Amino acid sequence: MLKLENTCAYYGQIQALHDISIEVKKGEIVCLIGANGAGKTTTINTITGFLRSCSGTISYLDQNIRGMSMSAIVKKGISCVPEGRRIFPKMTVMENLELGAYVHKKDYSGTKNILEKIWEMFPVLYERKKQLGGTLSGGEQQMLAIARAMMSRPKLILMDEPSMGLAPIIVEQTFKSILKIKEEGTTILLAEQNAQMAFEISDRAYLLQTGNVVMSGPPSELACDPQVQQTYLGG
Ligand SMILES: Nc1ncnc2c1ncn2[C@@H]1O[C@H](COP(=O)(O)OP(=O)(O)OP(=O)(O)O)[C@@H](O)[C@H]1O
Ligand SMILES: [Mg+2]
Repeated sequence: MLKLENTCAYYGQIQALHDISIEVKKGEIVCLIGANGAGKTTTINTITGFLRSCSGTISYLDQNIRGMSMSAIVKKGISCVPEGRRIFPKMTVMENLELGAYVHKKDYSGTKNILEKIWEMFPVLYERKKQLGGTLSGGEQQMLAIARAMMSRPKLILMDEPSMGLAPIIVEQTFKSILKIKEEGTTILLAEQNAQMAFEISDRAYLLQTGNVVMSGPPSELACDPQVQQTYLGG
């Protein structure tokens, strides 16, 4: 579904990604693990078109999307749950969700259907649909960020550290929701520092270090590597 080949990304003169190659097949959850500054967010922002200073090929459903506008990429079926959630704090839950469906703004019945799925998956968002986004708890804001990404009815969702800053029990609930989204047919690329949790739900994993892919394979294989165990799985 998604293939990055020899992708590089830059911030001015600084190169943040070095010839990375990553593949995500339809129906998979693929995780990108790595420490602070490894290049996880840069990879996600390069795919969405937010970071335009890049080279190499980014193909999605056999079409090169590198250089396309962000809105064109969303229309093609890729959406993003950004790092730090980035919900709109002064808008209600409902308004945040409506913005997620902006690319299909005239398709009222499609939007109604996806909203029904979202209310079923996250009942607390239904209860709080008139509440301002900024007044939700961290866990509820994460649910809202995921739900907003679902509103454009994507084929592929890019999630950037959905566990960040959440209590362990909320992290578990969040990962359960991610699995449910996969079961309903959406493919997921998940950037995570929480390698333990990411490995539990992923089909394949890539390890990023200083902008390079240094290891890839099934999570069970990466989890056996002594360096991965020591650095990312707490020994
Ligand atoms: N806007 C920017 N300008 C300059 N350098 C940047 C910018 N954003 C990121 N970088 C650098 O690019 C590298 C990769 O950063 P990135 O944010 O992709 O890492 P990350 O893996 O997402 O880390 P974290 O786990 O902390 O979110 C880092 O060295 C970072 O300092
Ligand atoms: Mg990041």
